[in-house]
Amino acid sequence: MIRLLYISTARQAHASSVLDPILRASRRNNAAAGVSGLLVAGGKRFLQVLEGPEAAVEKTYRRISTDHRHVAPVILSRRHVAERIFAEWAMGFQDAGSLSGAGTPNEALMALIAPISDPNLKADFEGFVRRHAA
Ligand SMILES: Cc1cc2nc3c(=O)[nH]c(=O)nc-3n(C[C@H](O)[C@H](O)[C@H](O)COP(=O)(O)O)c2cc1C
Repeated sequence: MIRLLYISTARQAHASSVLDPILRASRRNNAAAGVSGLLVAGGKRFLQVLEGPEAAVEKTYRRISTDHRHVAPVILSRRHVAERIFAEWAMGFQDAGSLSGAGTPNEALMALIAPISDPNLKADFEGFVRRHAA
């Protein structure tokens, strides 16, 4: 099993008219493929974790990376893991609100995570980013 974390830039400001179809397709396809994860949207950034069988995650990422709704996806980490972190979500979603432009990839990551409202998820995710990114 692998876990892949990437960051990308949305083509347009986040809106439910864009996000809802992405989440619907993600949950349908990921559930069928055994992929789980979390999508965070903030400012014009997407931050997404995909985890599951290697072939399924790679195939999903290849499809996502050519999606015209975002540009310049950058993989921050890709590693073999024994367990899922987001097992309960075919694709969880966090709205990180509007963000001013953050500088380095690490600052952008932390800015995305900062507004997450659930303190447990926020702590988990901050730890995750510290351990796995940059
Ligand atoms: C930021 C972002 C994240 C996405 N995440 C997923 C995902 O986790 N799983 C997925 O199947 N599609 C995801 N998509 C959508 C895919 O790019 C693609 O549109 C979709 O998989 C096509 O599914 P369909 O052929 O069933 O309509 C994402 C798209 C964007 C822009």
